[in-house]
Amino acid sequence: MNILEVRQLTKTYTIENRQITILDNITFAVPAGSFMVIEGASGSGKSTLLTLLSGLDQPDSGTVLIQDTDITFMNEDELAPMRNKTLGFVFQSFHLVPSLTSLENVMFPAELKKDPQAEEKAELLLKKVGLGKRRFNYPHQLSGGEKQRVAICRAMINDPALIFADEPTGNLDSENSSAILDLLLDLRRERGSTLILVTHSTAIAAMADKKITLKDGRIAGSKNRGD
Ligand SMILES: Nc1ncnc2c1ncn2[C@@H]1O[C@H](COP(=O)(O)OP(=O)(O)O)[C@@H](O)[C@H]1O
Ligand SMILES: [Mg+2]
Repeated sequence: MNILEVRQLTKTYTIENRQITILDNITFAVPAGSFMVIEGASGSGKSTLLTLLSGLDQPDSGTVLIQDTDITFMNEDELAPMRNKTLGFVFQSFHLVPSLTSLENVMFPAELKKDPQAEEKAELLLKKVGLGKRRFNYPHQLSGGEKQRVAICRAMINDPALIFADEPTGNLDSENSSAILDLLLDLRRERGSTLILVTHSTAIAAMADKKITLKDGRIAGSKNRGD
């Protein structure tokens, strides 16, 4: 079963009366439980693609199906419950809420769906990533690597079937980067979730079940493990 199907997605922006095509006729499918890498030079359209796949923005044309549900042109109210229950996000710049502690940041998506075990689950996750003692620290009291570990816990707390990670190590040094990628891959394996990761790491890309390469908004290459 495919957890995600993308059909003929096209996205344009109009800048000073000129229409620029950012994504051009993108089609692919992602089997549930698999690990997919999206690579491509800066500006090739990777982040734009992720925003369309997760319903944060809408394409000009084409279709995005998540678990067989067409989310392409859903409005915010229709999307919100699905996004909070089924999707997890990890961004390059962490996106933690500065006024909340690590624990509160991680609990937040679980509290939105009124999970009575929100705190318990958040504590467990933080402990698992080695931040048990940091749970009452605020984001500004944490290193970059620690912030990203908190962000990963937050992405995982509702046990999402599908996780999007957009260059999650882009702001980290190489040592922290490999620790963060290992952590993401471990949690994914343990939970059987699907991971769609934008990364420049060729070592990580080599571990993926499927890899697509974007170039100027088009799929310039696609490779499945074993090809
Ligand atoms: N809101 C926007 N308005 C106009 N152009 C945009 C917007 N967002 C992204 N772009 C352009 O779309 C292209 C792809 O950007 P992006 O998806 O961020 O690429 P990547 O993540 O691969 O670096 C770039 O040329 C960028 O300038
Ligand atoms: Mg990007």
